[in-house]
Amino acid sequence: MGTLAGKNLLLGITGGIAAYKCGELIRRLKDEGADVRVVMTPAAQAFVQPMTFQALSGNPVHTQLLDPHAEAGMGHIELARWADKVLVAPVTASFMARLAAGDASDLLSTLCLATSAPISLAPAMNQQMWRAAATQRNLRQLEQSGYHILGPASGDQACGDNGPGRMLEPAELLALLGGEPSGELAGKQVLITAGPTLEAIDPVRYISNFSSGKMGFALAATCARAGASVTLVSGPVSLATPRGVNRIDVQSCQQMHDAVIGQKDIDIFIATAAVADYRPAARSAEKIKKSTDSLTIELVRNPDILADMSARSPRPGLVVGFAAESSDLAAQARAKLETKKLDLVVANLVNQPGGVFGSDENQVLLLDRVSQTELPRIEKRVLAEKLVQEIAKRL
Ligand code: C5P
Repeated sequence: MGTLAGKNLLLGITGGIAAYKCGELIRRLKDEGADVRVVMTPAAQAFVQPMTFQALSGNPVHTQLLDPHAEAGMGHIELARWADKVLVAPVTASFMARLAAGDASDLLSTLCLATSAPISLAPAMNQQMWRAAATQRNLRQLEQSGYHILGPASGDQACGDNGPGRMLEPAELLALLGGEPSGELAGKQVLITAGPTLEAIDPVRYISNFSSGKMGFALAATCARAGASVTLVSGPVSLATPRGVNRIDVQSCQQMHDAVIGQKDIDIFIATAAVADYRPAARSAEKIKKSTDSLTIELVRNPDILADMSARSPRPGLVVGFAAESSDLAAQARAKLETKKLDLVVANLVNQPGGVFGSDENQVLLLDRVSQTELPRIEKRVLAEKLVQEIAKRL
């Protein structure tokens, strides 16, 4: 029996073709020992009859908000209180929009507002709909509101497209629900660097790079959800601080180095920041004027934050580095693993189709002393979940 044994699980089903997978999902939830009650939106009932899920769950299926019969049995507030956990699968773009707006126009969205139980959402939709600006805005809003987003996976879609938007398989959903992701890093101190650094040339100009910080922020959010106490040292980025994360803002490599080295009792150090290797030898106090045809700026080496943390005593329990390369990925990543004495390297090609800097997706190679694993191109959010699992395995 897993952690779902004896738990009251409310399964919300919205109107997507992946609703047909809910039969298997309910059977697996019941095999785990959960008591399952199903709520369907009107659109979900266009895909599968409520009778199917009633037979599989052994409980009546709830479909209407203003149904006197249902309210006389288990009313919507009672149902919201009954749930220990809520899983909505599949979640359509439309349902995400309603939840993000706090709309309570049907039974399921009302229950999501009325319950104090943790709510997991398993989105499923066409890849273009998933990538649409409005859906991504709603996704960020929902994450910040504390909803736990499971997936989606990437791959072939019912509509013939290929890309992100496939609902996770029932077994994967079960593992994420029953595996209590909130516990994987419980009690651990995690320190993460993220974003670019900015090296001033004069009061107006600087040297920097294209890093958006998305990978580091996704990792910080995932580690916090996994129960870790997270400190995020970030260069200048335009991202909101994930819930429960302690953020320290810096600009230059030297400032990032000082903020990081000063942190005590670190169990896991993850260096995702794209740190400038060089800085101007001197910062001009005055704005440099365009008086000559050419200008030479002398650059000096910056400290290597990752190498210094790995060599520090006491050393963090686990040190994870990133490697952004333009060629010879595996060889360069292995060299980094050795020279910086890392436990795990996450390496990617910066010139991969679709790009990396600023993108929501990345394709990486995971490398440690004994293994090398190639992952497909996936969303940085989903990659963060996988990396946290890899990290937890190595602790
Ligand atoms: O040596 P390279 O810059 O390619 O190594 C990349 C890794 O080292 C990344 O994890 C990056 O965050 C980290 N790094 C660092 N301090 C530097 C340069 C890189 O922490 N000055």
